[in-house]
Amino acid sequence: MNREKKKIDWSEERWKDMLVYQRKFLWLEDTLDKLAVWLGFKPGMTVIDAGCGLGNLGYTYWPYFGEGGRYIGVDMSPELIRDATQTAMDWAKNGEASFMVGDAYKLPFPDDYADCTMCQTLLMHLEKPELALTEMLRVTKPGGLVVCAEPDNLSSMLEHHYSSLPELDLEEELLCHKSAIIGNLGRIKLGRGDNSIGRKIPMMMSRLGLVEIDARLNDRVSHMEPPYEGPVQQHQLMSVKKYCSLDDDKEHEFFLQREKEEFLAGGGDPEDFERLIKIGDRIRPIHKQQIDHGEFFACGGSQFYIIKGRKRLT
Ligand SMILES: C[S@@+](CC[C@H](N)C(=O)[O-])C[C@H]1O[C@@H](n2cnc3c(N)ncnc32)[C@H](O)[C@@H]1O
Repeated sequence: MNREKKKIDWSEERWKDMLVYQRKFLWLEDTLDKLAVWLGFKPGMTVIDAGCGLGNLGYTYWPYFGEGGRYIGVDMSPELIRDATQTAMDWAKNGEASFMVGDAYKLPFPDDYADCTMCQTLLMHLEKPELALTEMLRVTKPGGLVVCAEPDNLSSMLEHHYSSLPELDLEEELLCHKSAIIGNLGRIKLGRGDNSIGRKIPMMMSRLGLVEIDARLNDRVSHMEPPYEGPVQQHQLMSVKKYCSLDDDKEHEFFLQREKEEFLAGGGDPEDFERLIKIGDRIRPIHKQQIDHGEFFACGGSQFYIIKGRKRLT
């Protein structure tokens, strides 16, 4: 298997769309206000965003450091950098925002350059996250801040779900949990990253010698109940339609194929995967029908961490 080819190209429409869509309402506004204080953002800071994509972290935290400040987004995708540069004109007022193509393993900055170096959902996709974190630390000034917003999607997958969909029997639920764990092992083996990285980052920072390490969780709860009142629930309704591929068999097949590769690479039994497909085939039409008829409900949180650490002064 050509491993490189199987890595995500985030400028492909399918993925780029997620960088816009799934970022909307990712954090609650009042949470962001509190996080910005906790993180210690101040006007005038120089901030690097590694694996910036379309600059979501930049425009999210710009109100807290942008006045007289500098934001530099770095991403390996020239297409995303082009798009991010165009949209920055809308949000980067009274400061300087720029974007450049670059590698998170070799950031294009001298040592001790930025007041803060941050990333969001970058480390979870890297084969060597600790190496990228080391590089983020290198370009941060002594006493400066390193911030990582990364989820533990594996733990979120292992939650006992509550929704309008039919309950799985215990054997089926255990099979789904087992496949999530095996799939993540395969993902790591294929060099596609680690879905459970969020909770590993504080210790990674500690090993690298950062101090004042602390972590918080995204406090947003995704709940949907008919008639899906308000912009957040409406957005979630659209997200389910879009990302569960309920109307799009080709997309469904694409994601299933990726899952299968990871499951098998993790040492999963092909017969187990067939059983998983059968469960999916049974639930998917019910899911679609409930969405189409406005009957679907669900409630749950996800484990999305934001971790900060400070580079030692000496
Ligand atoms: C899931 S996206 C996150 C984008 C953005 N941080 C956000 O939260 O919207 C991961 C991003 O990391 C970029 N990326 C992956 N590997 C990289 C590397 N080695 N160097 C620089 N960027 C990288 C991808 O191109 C993609 O834009």
